[in-house]
Amino acid sequence: MEKTFIMVKPDGVQRNLVGDIVSRFEKKGFKLAGAKLMQIPNALAEEHYGEHKEKPFFGELVEFITSGPVFAMVWEGENVIATARQMMGQTKPSEAMPGTIRGDFGLTVGKNVVHGSDSPDSAEREINLFFNQDELVSYEKNDHNWIY
Ligand code: TYD
Ligand code: MG
Repeated sequence: MEKTFIMVKPDGVQRNLVGDIVSRFEKKGFKLAGAKLMQIPNALAEEHYGEHKEKPFFGELVEFITSGPVFAMVWEGENVIATARQMMGQTKPSEAMPGTIRGDFGLTVGKNVVHGSDSPDSAEREINLFFNQDELVSYEKNDHNWIY
C-alpha cells in the first residue's frame, strides 16, 4: 500500500496543531504507520531539503526546520501521496484554499505548518531518511464487534 511522509513543522508544534493535523488524516481514513516527535539535526535538514540547496531561501528554511521539534509521520493508503498534498494546500498559505491545513492555519510561505512528500520517489526517500524499518508498524484495521 502507498505510503507518504508527513511532518508537522516547528510552527505547527509550537501552535498546538499536532492533534488537529493527525486527526484530519485519521478522519480521512488513512492509516498511521509511524510517528515521532524529534528535533531535526542540521545534516538531516540539509539532506531532506537538498533539492532547494541553490535557492535563496535555503538557509532560512534549514534554520527554521531545525529551530524546534517537529512531528514526523508516515501515513498509508490508496493515493495517500497526492491526497495528502491536496489536504495540505498550496505552498503559500495566501494561495491555499480554506479547508486545507495551510489554508486554515498557515501565515507565511516559510511558516506553512506542514510538510508532505510530493511524489512516490520523494516519499520513499523521505520515509527512509526519517524512519528506520523497525519504527514502522504494519497492522490491519478490522470491523470490531465491540464498537456499537
Ligand atoms: P517546496 O518544496 O517548493 O514546497 P512544499 O513544501 O509545498 O513542497 O518548498 C519547501 C519549503 O520551502 C516550503 O514548504 C517553504 C519553503 N519555501 C520558502 O521559504 N520560500 C519559497 O519561496 C518557497 C517556494 C518555499
Ligand atoms: Mg516540496
